[in-house]
Amino acid sequence: MEFSFDINQLFPERVSILDQTIVAGPKSALRPDLQAHIATVIDELGRASAKAQQLPAAITSASKLQTQRHQLYLLKDRESNGGRGVVVGFLKVGYKKLFLLDRQGEHVEAEPLCVLDFYIAENMQRHGYGLELFDFMLQHKNLEPVLMAYDRPSPKFLSFLAKHYCLTPSVPQANNFVVYEGFFLNRSGSP
Ligand code: ACO
Repeated sequence: MEFSFDINQLFPERVSILDQTIVAGPKSALRPDLQAHIATVIDELGRASAKAQQLPAAITSASKLQTQRHQLYLLKDRESNGGRGVVVGFLKVGYKKLFLLDRQGEHVEAEPLCVLDFYIAENMQRHGYGLELFDFMLQHKNLEPVLMAYDRPSPKFLSFLAKHYCLTPSVPQANNFVVYEGFFLNRSGSP
């Protein structure tokens, strides 16, 4: 995904972590024009993800990110677009209080880290970028994918989880979240 401004100037790292402050960490006091460019990138990614998932409206935008306690991992490629860099995709996660059903149909209350949105630019899908981003997040959170919950995962994402993390089959739920057997086996109790 190309932009008229320099992506490498905006996001020095290959993976950037954005949150309520737009850019997590010491760079949160960014110049207003750079903040506006970051907001443009997030809004564009959110729109593209919604379109890819055929959602009626974007679930990710800069204004939403500023009001929710979510974290967005953004992956860029430094070399493309004449050295200005391109945005490859993003992964958004956050904690949610959920009422889940275990394999026996017993109610379990939990507050797991959930994957809320995930998108790799169309022309870059199936090249391993999604896996790179997901693995980065797992390392950053020091978490195993089986301990996470997945909000309304698309068929592509379900296939991704089965392929890379052997996550299949899921435990049926009464809500839109998908969890896997190990979620209940490995729980240490409250979050
Ligand atoms: N059809 C079926 N499976 C796919 C497809 C596809 N078009 N694209 C990726 N996958 C799955 C497959 O398991 C594939 O393995 P395979 O090629 O051997 O079949 C595997 O992902 C490839 O892994 P990566 O290359 O690391 O994944 P990628 O970079 O494509 O990222 C993602 C995966 C994020 C799901 C990407 O395909 C995408 O953006 N899809 C459109 C948006 C979307 O569906 N996002 C998930 C929303 S649900 C949520 O966020 C909770």
